[in-house]
Order: sequence, then C-alpha cells, then structure tokens
Amino acid sequence: STENLRYDNKVVVVTGAGGGLGKAYALFFASRGASVVVNDLGGSFKGEGNSTKAADVVVDEIKKAGGKAVANYDSVENGERIIETAVKAFGTVHILINNAGILRDVAFRNMKDTDWDLIQKVHVKGSYKCTKAAWPIFRKQKYGRIINTASAAGLFGSFGQANYSAAKLGMVAFSEVLAKEGAKYNIMTNAIAPIAASRMTETVMPPEVLENLKPDWVVPLVAVLVHDSNVGESGGIYEVGAGHVAKLRWERSKGALYKTDVSLTPSAISRKWDAVNDFTNPDHPTGPADFMGLLEAAGEMSSNEQGEEISFKDKVVL
Ligand code: NAI
Repeated sequence: STENLRYDNKVVVVTGAGGGLGKAYALFFASRGASVVVNDLGGSFKGEGNSTKAADVVVDEIKKAGGKAVANYDSVENGERIIETAVKAFGTVHILINNAGILRDVAFRNMKDTDWDLIQKVHVKGSYKCTKAAWPIFRKQKYGRIINTASAAGLFGSFGQANYSAAKLGMVAFSEVLAKEGAKYNIMTNAIAPIAASRMTETVMPPEVLENLKPDWVVPLVAVLVHDSNVGESGGIYEVGAGHVAKLRWERSKGALYKTDVSLTPSAISRKWDAVNDFTNPDHPTGPADFMGLLEAAGEMSSNEQGEEISFKDKVVL
C-alpha cells in the first residue's frame, strides 16, 4: 500500500511547489524521507511578479516537521538553476515533478501573442529546461522519475484556453518521447491530467465542489509512479482527482483501406467514410499504423473497389 512507500535517500525537485498541487507533493515526499527542492517563482496565477515567500513558507513547514528541503526561486524557464540547487544541496536529483504553471484564459478571438507565448514559455519550455538539466544526471546514475503535468484542457480542448490546451497536450507528447528515450536508463516518465482545488480553480468552481478536490488526493498516484518500484509504467497518461484515477490511451479505428493508384480520389474517401470513422474493434496504438502491411493488403484490392469512375486521371475530382 502507499502507506509503506518511502523515498529515503531520494532527491525530489518539485516545480511550482509554493502552493496547490506542488506544495502537496513537496510536503508528502519530505514526510516520506526525501530531500526536496521547493521551487516557486512566487508570482500571480497569470504569471505576473515574483516573490521568495511562496517557496519559503513550504520549506519552513517541511523543516519544522523535521524534513529536508531547500528553496529555489527561479522561473522554470531557467531550469538549469533549479537542478543546480538540487545538486548543490543534495548531490543529485532522482525525481522531477514538472508542475509549475499559469493561466492566461481568453477567447481565441481576443488572444494576444503575449498570452500565447507566456503559456508556452512556462509550461512547455519550463518543463523542457528542467528536464534537460536533469537528463544527463538521470542517464549517468541510471535512475530517473519524471512527472509532466498535462490537463483535461489539453486532452479534450477547453473553451477560452487555446494557448493552455496546446501547451498541455504538448506535455503528453513530451512524456511519450522521454519514456522511449529513457527506457534503457531506468528513466520512467508519465503525464498526469489532475483536477484539484487551488488558486487556479477556485475562481471557476464553487466551494462545495472544491471541498471534494483536495490536492492531497492527486499525490498518491504520483507517489506510485515515481517510486523505485515502478519499473515499467512509463509514457502513460492518467486522469486523477476527486478520488478517481484512470488511464487514457489513443484509439485508432480499423479504418478504410485504399489501393494507392489514381482511383484514390476524394470521392473514394467519401465512399468509405463510415469505415474511417467506425470504432468497433479498434486498436490502441503506441506507434503509427503499419503502413507497409496496409499497403500490401490494399495492393490485393481491385481499383473498382474504391470506384474508378471518378479519378484524378479523368480530371474529375470531388
Ligand atoms: P497553483 O497556481 O496553485 O500552482 C502553480 C504554482 O506554480 C504556483 O505556486 C506558481 O507560483 C508557480 N509558478 C508559476 N509560474 C512559475 C514559473 N515560471 N516558475 C516557477 N514556478 C512558477 O495551481 P495548481 O492548480 O496547483 O497547478 C499545478 C499544475 O497543475 C499546473 O501545471 C496546472 O496547469 C496543472 N493543472 C491543474 C489543474 C487543477 O485542477 N488544479 C487542472 C489541470 C492541470
């Protein structure tokens, strides 16, 4: 059970650990024996300003409880300094939780370049920079655990969050690549789409709902994924919050097969549109379709099957 998981001798870097989910991670890992770098820029949820207070308060709380922690006040855009803090204070880093984040919600019509750029900078570039600095250490010690923070907004799209949703789905792709490149070095990377009460969500949800969305209820899944005992769960996407944990994956329809000749026209696509969209007997792929095998299978079809009466050759296209 999670009760027994310990993180003694582990160095954990939590970005954006001055509040919300990050604070909950930091307090948890410190209480289970880890040395924790509490990073937080200390600005507003829109990414304005900075302060040392957010990180300091959490470090104080950890120390008062007898735990080990140091503060770092850099923006995740300067991830190398955050990892440097870990190395200076504790000699290395084992676990990186890319959690820092901000919002710049605005309808797409009114979105400004600054709204777009700042979101990409904090979420995408910030996670990149922290991970980039930790990566050579992880490889060398043949140990690394990474959590990237995605969002339902990224998985499904969310009204008024074009900038944030794009960045958050980026966290999924980033994780999937790191899972592949890190497998050989015992580096496990997973993405979570959390839901929790924080200053980010308190403006959009009523108190009685927030009451049931404690950040503490996201922590146990993260704890399991970054533990020593996780040797294999990597590249996953998990929805977590309100006492529910679920894994998400891609689904590919069986699809339609087309012979690759001049009969592969727009009208041929239209004719098999139902098959393209038919999700009975789907695949759950972790890579692109086996197009060589598909080409071979389609090669056995006759052009008639996709309708040769309308073709590029005849210069009649839908
Ligand atoms: P929060 O606003 O309480 O925590 C984010 C922390 O990151 C803040 O303490 C902030 O000062 C810090 N931060 C912001 N920009 C930074 C930067 N450039 N460098 C270092 N620190 C910085 O919000 P919450 O809810 O705890 O969010 C944590 C993560 O979870 C974020 O990535 C957020 O996008 C994500 N998330 C949260 C959801 C929720 O329901 N709370 C839903 C989906 C995703």
